[in-house]
Amino acid sequence: VELLGRRIADECGAALFVVPAGETSKSFERLEQLCRAAARAGLERDSVVVAVGGGVVGDLAGFCAAIFLRGVGLINVPTTLLAQVDSAIGGKTGINIPEGKNLVGAFKQPEAVYIDPELLATLPDREYRSGLAEVAKYAMANDAGLYESLSRGSEAVRARDIDMLTALVERCCAIKAEVVSGDETEEGPRSVLNYGHTFGHALETASAYQAFTHGEAISVGMMVAARIGTITGVTPAGVEEKQAALLQALALPLQAPGASATERMLEVMGRDKKARGGELRWVLLEDLGSASHGHLVPPEAVEKVVAWALQTAPS
Ligand SMILES: NC(=O)c1ccc[n+]([C@@H]2O[C@H](COP(=O)([O-])OP(=O)(O)OC[C@H]3O[C@@H](n4cnc5c(N)ncnc54)[C@H](O)[C@@H]3O)[C@@H](O)[C@H]2O)c1
Ligand SMILES: [Zn+2]
Repeated sequence: VELLGRRIADECGAALFVVPAGETSKSFERLEQLCRAAARAGLERDSVVVAVGGGVVGDLAGFCAAIFLRGVGLINVPTTLLAQVDSAIGGKTGINIPEGKNLVGAFKQPEAVYIDPELLATLPDREYRSGLAEVAKYAMANDAGLYESLSRGSEAVRARDIDMLTALVERCCAIKAEVVSGDETEEGPRSVLNYGHTFGHALETASAYQAFTHGEAISVGMMVAARIGTITGVTPAGVEEKQAALLQALALPLQAPGASATERMLEVMGRDKKARGGELRWVLLEDLGSASHGHLVPPEAVEKVVAWALQTAPS
């Protein structure tokens, strides 16, 4: 990735700023360094920041582009599966503070997003599977056809067959672009893209972003949401099982045994920024390939399913 960045910088005659891998780069400290580097490189209002890397680079560089000189241009070159199918599109940028992930940020639409699925060949297996969780999310929440392609082609998917990858990335980008263009600032419909993320984010927070990749956490979060949907009668019978089969075929976890205590997880979820007026709203499946947002769920149902996910009590 650094080589690719270097090549792009050389060819454009641009300054290069390399950030260390990892979530800790999404910090005020790194942002300040980046803005200062941009100032020293002489960026002007019509200059462009090119973000080459995974979601961490995209969020950090995108936020810099949003605020430097009150906004310069942005081009995304996502290099992880997660960034190609999700974070590079949609215009959300930001950094973390000790109080929580992505708490400081801005909406900043890129002028262009260049995606080459061939770049995914070098991705570590765990990072690759992390991206697959988001692909499975689009399948469950938005596109039953994508579910079929993924289940039938799970071998090709896991082997990173380039035609399969190209088709998947195209499909996911189209879904995300369509949903986001209808609701850029997430007043409502865009939140279906948060399917699996209520519990998933809490799991990431409770485990201090160490034990699970984002995708692993989302995978368990999707199981929690599907189960809550089934219990509350929103999700038809059989859908949860189909989702479990897909996640398993993609080597993603269904539960997170012992990851945290149920009470702690409930508390963290209560602080979720999607909680409105003190009540947590859930994105649930109405069917395979169709999700809806804003569901209020009885606390007992949530507690029961969270305990199941953590395997802290019999379900
Ligand atoms: N803005 C959004 O809408 C949005 C959406 C989802 C996630 N995110 C954010 O994205 C971040 C996660 O992004 P990520 O999963 O891409 O992780 P990441 O950016 O941390 O990248 C994962 C690892 O893969 C390496 N890498 C990147 N490309 C590679 C390649 N082609 N070959 C080999 N190694 C490569 C990176 O150096 C890093 O070590 C989180 O901070 C999350 O909050 C943002
Ligand atoms: Zn996600």
